[in-house]
Amino acid sequence: MQSQDRHRVVAIDGPAASGKSSVARELARRLGFVYVNSGAMYRAVTWHVLQHGVDPADNPRVIQLIESAPITCDLQNNESRILIDDVDPADRLRDDRVNDGVALVSRIPRVREILVEKLRSYVRDRDLVMEGRDIGSVVFPDTPYKFYIDASPEVRRRRRALQGGRDSIASRDRADSSRSASPLVIAKDADFIDTSNLTIAEVIAEIISRLKLKNLRGLA
Ligand code: DC
Repeated sequence: MQSQDRHRVVAIDGPAASGKSSVARELARRLGFVYVNSGAMYRAVTWHVLQHGVDPADNPRVIQLIESAPITCDLQNNESRILIDDVDPADRLRDDRVNDGVALVSRIPRVREILVEKLRSYVRDRDLVMEGRDIGSVVFPDTPYKFYIDASPEVRRRRRALQGGRDSIASRDRADSSRSASPLVIAKDADFIDTSNLTIAEVIAEIISRLKLKNLRGLA
């Protein structure tokens, strides 16, 4: 029996700038669930690698560093938080060098193994909305509540620019979808939602109505 048999997980996967962070955070608030941003964990360990002067393409050194890093995953205001060496790197996670390095670090199977275990530990005693790339396909494949949200490349580029993001959506899409370890895929039992012409509120309303159809307990 997997632990999510006792606690519920709503998985929200999708590519960069699909709107999944805004949707997942607000959905969690509405449901009273904890919000977990798995991308922030991949970004935090990438930041740690760079802080130590390690090349993100140097797999053995990256693995050695992450295996020995004191990584603490806890909660702050009902949202996931990651501390490495007791430092919270939240303000640095969107730096250009992290944007550039995260695809290299996140394609390493051993790194994914370590982080997937930490992500799963969040469900031991709470209900979650977790967003990422492989939440419905790998981290919690048994959850019945999984969504894949997407938007056209043009809309995603516009959204990223409005957020002040400087990373290349196209190259990260390519890297996330083509890596061999847990690539970005649409889980076969995920509900697909195209958010190109929807507001955040409309996407959330759509997800909540589908969760009702799936009989998620506790929804009004
Ligand atoms: O969601 P984001 O853009 O902050 O994610 C940053 C990177 O982390 C993304 O390019 C791929 C990686 N990632 C991943 O491999 N698996 C996840 N579950 C979440 C993110």
